[in-house]
Amino acid sequence: MAKPKTIFYCRNCGTQSGKWLGRCPSCGEWNSFDEEVIHRTEKAGPRRPASPGSAKPRLIKDIESSGTKRIDTGNQELNRVLGGGLVAGSITLVGGEPGIGKSTLMLQMALQMPSCKVLYVSGEESGEQIKMRADRISTNPSECYILTETLTDQIMNNIDSIEPQLVIIDSIQTLQSSSIESSAGSISQIRECASELQQYAKTSGVPVILIGHITKDGAIAGPKVLEHMVDTVLQFEGERNYGYRILRGAKNRFGPASELGIFQMQGNGLREVSNPSEIMLTRHDEAVSGITLAATIEGLRPMMIEIQALVSSSAYGTPQRSATGIDGRRLSMLLAVIEKRAGFRLGPKDVFLNIAGGMRIDDPATDLAIAVAIISSSEDMPVDSKICFAAEIGLSGEIRQVNRIEQRMAEAARLGYETIIISRYNARLDALPDLGIKVVALTKIEEVIRYLFA
Ligand code: TYD
Ligand code: MG
Repeated sequence: MAKPKTIFYCRNCGTQSGKWLGRCPSCGEWNSFDEEVIHRTEKAGPRRPASPGSAKPRLIKDIESSGTKRIDTGNQELNRVLGGGLVAGSITLVGGEPGIGKSTLMLQMALQMPSCKVLYVSGEESGEQIKMRADRISTNPSECYILTETLTDQIMNNIDSIEPQLVIIDSIQTLQSSSIESSAGSISQIRECASELQQYAKTSGVPVILIGHITKDGAIAGPKVLEHMVDTVLQFEGERNYGYRILRGAKNRFGPASELGIFQMQGNGLREVSNPSEIMLTRHDEAVSGITLAATIEGLRPMMIEIQALVSSSAYGTPQRSATGIDGRRLSMLLAVIEKRAGFRLGPKDVFLNIAGGMRIDDPATDLAIAVAIISSSEDMPVDSKICFAAEIGLSGEIRQVNRIEQRMAEAARLGYETIIISRYNARLDALPDLGIKVVALTKIEEVIRYLFA
């Protein structure tokens, strides 16, 4: 019998090593190597002869493209993130923290898929628990089979007998393959099980969805390793205290990455939020200082979001800076620009910044709205609630142009805003169509302040 082989894996990025290392040479993480004993049952012998079913090289022009064949998931937000539906033979990873609603989303999809035979494999919950959840979500009778199993061989046997059109695995961390002896959830198991499922998806053309847990500090590494293997990675996230959940495309071989799907967790499952602007805004009857509106684009969708800033004298020696929903470094940069270019003394003050609704925003077009919110709070001068902003701020305090300005303007106009402040440097400024919103194009942050508060 072959001697069992020991391999060390980095918990963070999956790098292999023959010996234990204190620091991963690939991702730089400290103390992240775990030992795993690997017994492979199959022997690595001489090269096997080609079997009749094995792949042969083909000319690219002879390969049929099935790019347009997508399976409708019955859920518009999910379809949007996937780029129009599930692609045949694709493998999709849905990652997220425990309790965020991955199982709910997938079960809901399985129950609502129009005329599609779905196999939902759960290694985490019993059939009764899943049934209880299904009763909460939907009363639609659908062709959804539930299998509570963790061994991949058994799952494959059941797949052969049921012949589903979609397989959902909840979760990849609970699966176990008999060809590897380490415990479920270990990196080698996760890899092996995922590659077995990938093999199945590619040969049968049936899409497979894997659910994977990930914790805030990235302690469970499985999904990171998986990201390279799968076609599509979707991240399900949200502030647990808000009911909103965001499904983000992090990688997509068949569609736009960075697209967003928005849901609201309710008593009867996840509601699709097709009009995100309306949930991100809180209507104020009177103007309040420190509140501004930014016309952003997340994915391909324009969205109005509310920025809230609070600037107050620091009670302690060290002023606090806290940003929820935007990058803290971006906030520091904007504070420095406001201080240096617009002459507001913010150094000794506490600054708190918040995106209403618990959203996380990466769009640089929110810069101007953030800066104005901070100044408005610092000076205690409210900004007219009919004005919104869409511009980036440069280090010299210049107002920079942002992409797809027409789309942002149209969304702002649709929601009843009367003025939008943008950059004078926008290309084709003169050619902007009349969308029923007044456009104020400026070049410097000082000009914006003069326009708003003078
Ligand atoms: P779940 O899908 O089990 O999360 P995950 O699979 O990501 O671990 O979601 C669990 C949470 O969702 C739980 O806190 C209860 C809540 N929930 C609702 O609010 N409404 C519902 O209809 C359902 C099914 C769950
Ligand atoms: Mg779950």
